[in-house]
Amino acid sequence: METTLLLLKPDTLHRALSGRILARFEDKGLQIVGLRMLRMDAELAAQHYADHTEKPFYDGLVKFMTSSPIVAVALRGPQAIEIVRKLMGSTFGPDAEPGSIRGDFSCTKTYNLVHGSDSTASAERELGIFFPNGLEEWEPTAARWTQDEK
Ligand code: RTP
Ligand code: MG
Repeated sequence: METTLLLLKPDTLHRALSGRILARFEDKGLQIVGLRMLRMDAELAAQHYADHTEKPFYDGLVKFMTSSPIVAVALRGPQAIEIVRKLMGSTFGPDAEPGSIRGDFSCTKTYNLVHGSDSTASAERELGIFFPNGLEEWEPTAARWTQDEK
């Protein structure tokens, strides 16, 4: 079982796509174990995007991510990290596969709607940043039908 961090970026909220995008992850069978709306500031952006601080796109990325509120979601399921990344699609809207979130809803290289942790180490680190008080532990009744038998 894995838990991963999903962020609904400012463009998702401006375009009122939060419900539809979150529904894709629920429809797939992933469990919500954390959910919060917040405004990222430069300090939080630097923590979250620590690997990107030297990149040429960093300043633009921080400006975008701090421009209005975001929604942070903790999602759990078997192979949740890989599943979330697949449902998101590749980084830039114009290249992203049809059927993926970015493929269906984004045609820009800047506003790509979502963030998903890219490894177990990133997921652990990022969940700690956005959910420092831990996650909600609960057993979804649908797990009998959405997960393989142990
Ligand atoms: P994310 O972190 O948001 O889930 O996306 P990702 O793994 O697919 O992309 P990553 O390489 O980690 O880049 C983080 C975010 O920075 C912006 N970006 N802009 N203009 C550019 O060349 C460029 N490269 C990356 C995107 O918003 C990307 O999601
Ligand atoms: Mg990334």
